[in-house]
Amino acid sequence: MVHVAPSSHLPRLTSKDEFLAFADQATQRWDELWAGDKVVVSVGVGSSSIAKGALDVLARCRQELGNSAVVREVSGNGAFWMEPWIEVKHPGAPPVVYGPLSTNDVPGVLTGARQDLAVGVRGDTAHNGIPPLNEHPFFKGQHQLLLRNSGVIEPDSIEDAIARGAYRGYFKVLFEMSQEEAIAEVTTAQVRGRGGGGFPAGVKWESGRKARATPKFVACNSHEGEPNVYKDRHLHESDPHRILEGILIACIACGAERGYNYIGGEYPLGIRRFRKAVADAERLGLIGKNILGSGKNVAFRVRTGGGAYICGEASAMMYSVMGVRGQPRTKPPRSVEEGLWKRPTVANNTETLANVPDIIVNGGEWYAKLGTENSKGTKLMTNQGPMNRMGVVEVEMGMTLNSLFNDIFGGMREGYTFKGVQTGGVSAGPLTKDHLDIPVDFDSLGDVGGMLGSGGWVIFDESVCVVDFARYLTAFNRYESCSKCVPCRLGNPALVEILDRIRFGRGTLDDLALIKRTSKHVIELSLCGLGQVAPVPLLGMIEHYEEEFRRHIVDHVCPTGTCPISATEPAPALAAD
Ligand SMILES: Cc1cc2nc3c(=O)[nH]c(=O)nc-3n(C[C@H](O)[C@H](O)[C@H](O)COP(=O)(O)O)c2cc1C
Ligand code: SF4
Repeated sequence: MVHVAPSSHLPRLTSKDEFLAFADQATQRWDELWAGDKVVVSVGVGSSSIAKGALDVLARCRQELGNSAVVREVSGNGAFWMEPWIEVKHPGAPPVVYGPLSTNDVPGVLTGARQDLAVGVRGDTAHNGIPPLNEHPFFKGQHQLLLRNSGVIEPDSIEDAIARGAYRGYFKVLFEMSQEEAIAEVTTAQVRGRGGGGFPAGVKWESGRKARATPKFVACNSHEGEPNVYKDRHLHESDPHRILEGILIACIACGAERGYNYIGGEYPLGIRRFRKAVADAERLGLIGKNILGSGKNVAFRVRTGGGAYICGEASAMMYSVMGVRGQPRTKPPRSVEEGLWKRPTVANNTETLANVPDIIVNGGEWYAKLGTENSKGTKLMTNQGPMNRMGVVEVEMGMTLNSLFNDIFGGMREGYTFKGVQTGGVSAGPLTKDHLDIPVDFDSLGDVGGMLGSGGWVIFDESVCVVDFARYLTAFNRYESCSKCVPCRLGNPALVEILDRIRFGRGTLDDLALIKRTSKHVIELSLCGLGQVAPVPLLGMIEHYEEEFRRHIVDHVCPTGTCPISATEPAPALAAD
């Protein structure tokens, strides 16, 4: 386990007044930073920008400026397309964001000679002809609640987070609200689980509170093992205190004495920043016994996964947290009755919990005004594929796919034509261009065979073979099956085998019927959510692109030239097999 030490200058706060005084100091420090007479340079450092050289850019800034300026390591701001970026604030002027840039561009940006690299001003008004960042199409359509600190605060600084409002909801729950009142706000907000299922969080919390066995636990599910989603990673890297506060609020509201965060082991930066947040919160006295003199106790543990997708399924996650092989179990009993160590455990997704601090501070009614009738609030979305702007965004529920893809993500890159979008990670079907007017919410996408899921969109273009893509998605579920139950363990390899037959030009039209029959068994007889939806992407591909499957089978041609059968020449006849 990586040990992350807390910041040694932090005091131990033992009362509510001490917390309020500390928060005032943090706010003052924050205001002085931006009103001071030193240049402030912030560099966006996250997993994606590091891959593009952000750490070199940070080092170059430090080398160029020495002690003459304040150089800050903030997180990425979700706009991967403009990474690496830096923000420069000169005294008396608003902060200006520049990107994408290389280390060689740094001196020019710092002296003001490279205004051509300016993307926008952080603030509401233009400066020297540079428009506000919020007017850029990528940001304009967003409604940032969870991402409002993203790329703004230093994730390693608890003072930055507190200056921007962190732990105010926790404070309310500790001192000003009963457990029932806190849960009532979450219920009124109608916030639904962001881990894919959309279950109302308030209902789950109330069951957790009412459960009689003790001790109780809260487990945050930050596993995020789907191949195309990175929203929880981004939250950990950009605003870890928001997640921690959400978990701590859930602990107090449900009467749990210990909170866990289970983070995917593939997220080293997110894990490190989150551990730092926990260490600092412990040091300040926000975690532990008699928190701020309230008489309430919460302990906290971070656990990391080893990379198995199935460990994101809540019951498997709990086994993994306990140090046991992560496999789902039959329900009932539900986790909220028998979870960790067979004790009541409230399990929620990272994003669900990250919504909670704002709900407690502003009230459930405020939150319920955002979004649609049955899907309240905002949603984090990520994209993959040949689009102009890649990244993590936060939009109000109900935005159409068209606006999301074309306005925010900027449409397809030149030379690529939209063919479809894979929804719901590996658990739902694709949608085509005919579906782009559909609003993004929990229910509308399901009506046409898609799924909001975790909000990851894989946009594919005309060069992608749907048979090959369906094989990838089915093979993912085959590899990730935990092998506990027969339909999933044997059914998924059988589906991959049929798809390979088709890809090699040996399929028959009967194979399409066989896929449907096999899928029915896997869906109806599998034990957990993985098997119960594993064939759905494949069935969706056949439904929307049946002609392309038939070309492979009847004409022995892969129209995109992707599959082992030649794009132009028929596959050789096979001996009787
Ligand atoms: C195969 C599989 C993988 C899952 N992976 C995740 C995951 O990585 N993160 C997550 O929050 N939920 C995941 N879930 C859903 C969880 O089982 C559970 O519903 C969720 O964590 C509950 O939180 P929520 O109500 O806040 O969405 C997965 C489910 C299945 C079947
Ligand atoms: S459906 Fe698949 S992943 Fe789920 S328990 Fe059965 S074998 Fe394991």
